[in-house]
Amino acid sequence: MHKGIAIYPGSFDPTTNGHLDLIERGAKIFEELVVAILRNSEKSPMFSVAERLQMLRELTADLKNVRIDTFDGLMVEYAKSLEATCILRGIRAISDYEYELQMALMNRKLEPTLETVFMMPADKYSYVSSRLVREVAQAGGPVKGLVPEVVEQKLRERLDPAYKLRDARMNEVLDRRESARKGNKRKKKA
Ligand code: PNS
Repeated sequence: MHKGIAIYPGSFDPTTNGHLDLIERGAKIFEELVVAILRNSEKSPMFSVAERLQMLRELTADLKNVRIDTFDGLMVEYAKSLEATCILRGIRAISDYEYELQMALMNRKLEPTLETVFMMPADKYSYVSSRLVREVAQAGGPVKGLVPEVVEQKLRERLDPAYKLRDARMNEVLDRRESARKGNKRKKKA
């Protein structure tokens, strides 16, 4: 186990099973892991920072060496304020690498004593991202297995009209199929 504090920074909007997988892996390696939610994100978020904080706290309650916090401004400054020695980031596929490499090198330039450590989440989550989860959920699609249950529930509450619209569309399709099937039967009899 690596002595000292590591930071796992991100937007976590929302937390996916891939994030959780990485947190669990990180918690086995680092003495203390601080999951840090960026507060001043320019994107318009799906969940408020307070909601993301609460969900992450609930999801990591069993991991005694994991703490959830928020930060503003430069991540390396925040890391220094905690006397952290490592930044943890996940790499799912080669497509993540270029952005992550740039960020790691910029962070190293800003603070050479901080080391970025990359870990891979389980391959079953290699295609899961917060952005795609938001996109699927916003269209009323199923996100079961991609996000923890508490997040799935929150998405359903937040996007209730989208889920209802999708259900209505699905029922319409099924009704049309049923009518067509009955119509075909009648034709065969005639
Ligand atoms: O989950 P994300 O959105 O990929 O996380 C990106 C994050 C929050 C880690 C990154 O944008 C960040 O550290 N922002 C804080 C501002 C900062 O330090 N920028 C310089 C990074 S090279």
